[in-house]
Amino acid sequence: MGGIDRSAGLVLAARAKINLGLEIIGKRRDGYHELRTLMQSVGLSDRLELVSDRGGRIALRCPGSKLSTDSGNIAFQAAERLRECSGDRRLGVRIVLRKRIPVGAGLGGGSADAAAVLLGLNRLWGLRLRLDELEDLAAGLGSDVPFCIRGGTQLSSGRGEILRPLHPFPALPVGLVYPTLFVPTSSIYGARRIPLTRSGPLTRLRDCGITTRSDVVSCVARLHNDLEPIVVRKYRRVGRLLDRLRGLGVEIARVSGSGSSLFVMTKERTALERALGEVADGETQVFRTWFRRRGCVSIVSRGAGRDIGAIQRRNRQLS
Ligand code: C5P
Repeated sequence: MGGIDRSAGLVLAARAKINLGLEIIGKRRDGYHELRTLMQSVGLSDRLELVSDRGGRIALRCPGSKLSTDSGNIAFQAAERLRECSGDRRLGVRIVLRKRIPVGAGLGGGSADAAAVLLGLNRLWGLRLRLDELEDLAAGLGSDVPFCIRGGTQLSSGRGEILRPLHPFPALPVGLVYPTLFVPTSSIYGARRIPLTRSGPLTRLRDCGITTRSDVVSCVARLHNDLEPIVVRKYRRVGRLLDRLRGLGVEIARVSGSGSSLFVMTKERTALERALGEVADGETQVFRTWFRRRGCVSIVSRGAGRDIGAIQRRNRQLS
């Protein structure tokens, strides 16, 4: 490990995901559900500042958020897991996590943060693990974390860890509607009657010929989310929002993952703007964003370990 600049720092954008479609195939012996889901990275992102710690300490701060800053936080767990895997106890990092992706929203914010820590520390600590090795490690942290390593457009199956990258969808605009509700994933998967789709449209999905906005909207319009009826049953406001959006004539309004967020897509850009403008209020937050080809990107990278302020100032300029 000689020659590695342990004072280096970097800033990463960890992007949210949406589930364009999600089919539950059945319950597994390990308590998880066998599923098939088409996942897509979007531009809404958290910011992570990583600075090497020469004292071998792992420390996390989440300014402005109530998230835990120890092993209760998946970003912290990711750093610990990677250090364990390196076998070098001297490796340390100070992480500043600035949340922008709503929590408990079905947007994979925690998973994106964990993936960003794995990718960032792999570089910062000079570990040279391959992406497939990072994906294996990611699967031990959470079902959506492997997807977030590469991101883009991928079909995922199994518990979420079997990935098939598709030709990335174009950078289409998509609206995210967050009803300011925290929904624990396990409370939705734990419901008594989840509808099953053993052989649905995702089984037959091929990525050839999906290039234009209209192709993508038509393809996604044929999909569904088996968890949506459960979310709607438990959280009436989500159902009311879906009805309102559909009443406004949008082609797609659907729950992402286990909720609480919805995503909205239209063939015409103006229709999307109109619908988002209609539902945004004190209780409902709206994000206008785009499909993205990668789950995590580096914003600034330099040997700035002695001056985390420089990274933070740059980060603030960018956000
Ligand atoms: O893997 P992760 O920790 O993100 O999963 C959170 C919860 O979601 C699990 O405890 C489980 O209840 C549920 N889950 C599931 N089947 C999946 C993924 C998640 O039942 N494929």
